[in-house]
Amino acid sequence: MKQTVLSGIRSTGNLHLGNYFGAIRNFVRMQHEYNCYFFVADLHSLTTHPHPDNLHGNVRKVISEYLACGIDPDVATLYVQSDVPEISELYLLMNMNAYVGELERTTTFKDKIRKQPENVNAGLLTYPVLMATDIIIHKANKVPVGKDQEQNLEMARKFARRFNRIYEVDYFPEPEAFSFTGELIKIPGLDGSGKMGKSEGNAINLVDDPKIIRKKVMRAVTDAGPTELNQAPTEPIQNLFSLMEVVSETDTLNFFKEKYAACEIRYGDLKNQLAEDIIKFTTPIRDRILTIHDDDAYLKKVTKQGAEKARESASRTLREVREIIGFRSF
Ligand code: TRP
Repeated sequence: MKQTVLSGIRSTGNLHLGNYFGAIRNFVRMQHEYNCYFFVADLHSLTTHPHPDNLHGNVRKVISEYLACGIDPDVATLYVQSDVPEISELYLLMNMNAYVGELERTTTFKDKIRKQPENVNAGLLTYPVLMATDIIIHKANKVPVGKDQEQNLEMARKFARRFNRIYEVDYFPEPEAFSFTGELIKIPGLDGSGKMGKSEGNAINLVDDPKIIRKKVMRAVTDAGPTELNQAPTEPIQNLFSLMEVVSETDTLNFFKEKYAACEIRYGDLKNQLAEDIIKFTTPIRDRILTIHDDDAYLKKVTKQGAEKARESASRTLREVREIIGFRSF
């Protein structure tokens, strides 16, 4: 039997090149090897009190971008979290066995208190319970998570174990972190150091138009230029080479590396070439995003189909959990 892999997608912000080479490209491959569930975590996003129009707009954007990258809704189960009411019910049940003390100690909660002290709502406190519910409702075995979500996954394991212990059952599997060993490519930002990220403000989004991409690349940090033959590139320059590595032809990359080694490089030329190669890479994805984004009929069909598949699995779990807990019908 295929293992079940699940990933929740934050519904804020556009997908950027870092997301693409970091995770999404792997999701696209994985969907054929595993039983995959991908969903837009729109219930989680309520913790930040979005405006109703933005909430819907963000879900539309994220779904369009994932589809444009190659998530196949006929292969993977792609759904919107709030379309699956079973999640909310199981979340309520799971909350009864989650302790305020342990929730208050999670790093993500403590971060939020610092970042939004004016809105420390109960949903923030129980965020890990909802995330655990997302996972266990499909009895997922593997969850691809970044560093920042490891603690939340650890809590999901704890809640799954606790349920089994309290009710003396062997019902929920303990979800493990899925690691793409060796397949993760770190995409640097354009600001000289560190990685590409939304919060870093240095990202090239898949949906960016050519003008914006050129502008962002031309503004990338460089250095004063090599002073010795065969000098190792400084970090900002190595970052530009790393980007070229994923979007450009090998010959192009080698051409600029040789120019650098010979102290003949012109950063303007390097950036021009990099911008054009990024544009060449993102344009087909961008075109698909824009088409899908405005195709209401297609989005309706995809989300309906996703919700049906997700609810089939979720309602089975919920029925069994209700039975285990002791809710029985007369
Ligand atoms: N908390 C995750 C994030 O911020 C999103 C998420 C919600 C998630 N539910 C999940 C991730 C379940 C994995 C599994 O990125």
